Amino acid sequence: MTRDVVSIDDLSDAEIEAVFDIADDFLANMATPEKPYRIRGRTDCAQDFYLATLFYEPSTRTRGSFESAMFRLGGGVFSCADSKATSTAKGESIADTVRVIQNYADLIVIRHPWEGAAQVAADYSDIPVINAGDGSHEHPTQTLCDLYTLRTAQQPRHPATTRKSIKDLTVVLSGDLRHGRTVHSLAYALARFGARIIPMPAAKSYDFPDHVRHRLANDYGCIPVALDDVMGGSLPADVLYVTPEKPHQLSLMTSDIVDVSIQLSPKEEKALKSIKEVDFFYATRLQAERKEAGEADVDYPVINTEFLKQRPYKHSQVMHPLPRVNELSYEIDDDARGVYFQQAAYGVPVRMALIAALLELRPALGTRPETMQDRYPIYDRPHTLTCRNLQCVTRKESELRYLKPRFRIVGHELPRVRCLYCDHEQDPQIISHARSKKYRKGTSAWKTIKSEDLVLFGSEQEASKAGHRPVKSESAASATHA
Ligand code: CP
Repeated sequence: MTRDVVSIDDLSDAEIEAVFDIADDFLANMATPEKPYRIRGRTDCAQDFYLATLFYEPSTRTRGSFESAMFRLGGGVFSCADSKATSTAKGESIADTVRVIQNYADLIVIRHPWEGAAQVAADYSDIPVINAGDGSHEHPTQTLCDLYTLRTAQQPRHPATTRKSIKDLTVVLSGDLRHGRTVHSLAYALARFGARIIPMPAAKSYDFPDHVRHRLANDYGCIPVALDDVMGGSLPADVLYVTPEKPHQLSLMTSDIVDVSIQLSPKEEKALKSIKEVDFFYATRLQAERKEAGEADVDYPVINTEFLKQRPYKHSQVMHPLPRVNELSYEIDDDARGVYFQQAAYGVPVRMALIAALLELRPALGTRPETMQDRYPIYDRPHTLTCRNLQCVTRKESELRYLKPRFRIVGHELPRVRCLYCDHEQDPQIISHARSKKYRKGTSAWKTIKSEDLVLFGSEQEASKAGHRPVKSESAASATHA
């Protein structure tokens, strides 16, 4: 059974640790003593294997390090760096492309501008698929490099102190949290490992989208805590997400997930109050290529040595997935706290380890772990709901011919659904019955209809198009009002 890495949730915590152990091993045997983060030379463990890199968006690090990783493992690479040079330009679908490429390679790495594209590739490929970034959705292997950096690049302040485990770290995620796929995957992973997350968006409109905040709360039990209680309110951020020692079962549907009513235990409160500093400051660029028409420009903050003089950041190490534009000053390059080039260098050993694991050249992976996502019921009744996200792969013409929208029902009190491809959520307002084809407006019928009879629509027009009608009392009421 092949394994794919489409989301960071496709790897369990133990599997991530096992991949890191393999990366440690490659570095121990192949790095130069002067630069212990840089792989040199070549092994032959993957000499019988080929990697296909399908990059339909620009990349320096991800494609470069995947290809370097495969060559250094002794394997071959089949590379596509531009969709215009492939039959995608003639209208070929993702499903057809991967069903052809699987005959030429043993592993596919795909980067695509559409959210959920990597999931489609994984669904149709019989060889492992790795998501190298799908629109604003996820970038799980960047997260592996980030976690490896958090684990490895820490510089203890005193010789006697040891490195903190990820669980004990306080990490600021800053910049464009709305469109940045690296910070989405990283936030999920930090929540899973139990680190404290401080979102510091460039502006209110660049904060985590609702579906990311919901997933942090619902899937990982993260609790948002008002930042006034931490570091004397000295950070320009509103909340800090903590994962309690014993995750709380949140009510699976809250209209606004920033619900601070859940109490932390006295031990957790005490631990929170003792936080004085940020361990890692993770900066990201404005994702200008994902800006929507009419979106206003914002004053994007710049991280420089002046900024790092502030009390909470004095000992913070600065990370960035790169590329940088203006948000990270070049003056930090000469500061020992800047670890972003090391973070990029770890792309090779970490991706060598992941390739070796997925090709079963090194033991690290078992059967795919069950995640919270798998526990939500699926809703896939055809010709009813459409994903509201225009960047979702299910909204794209070339894929509409074969792809059917699928959702997970994540709401309990209300009918919230999450797209299985892009994770965007919506609250369908028309709940109908499959046999009677009668619906009521609003959500009152939710919970009274059995799942096998449940039909969801986003609007009355969509319901009407599918032949569903309002119950008599509601049609009469609208006729009276008319
Ligand atoms: N961090 C990252 O994904 O960089 P590239 O876009 O250069 O691959």
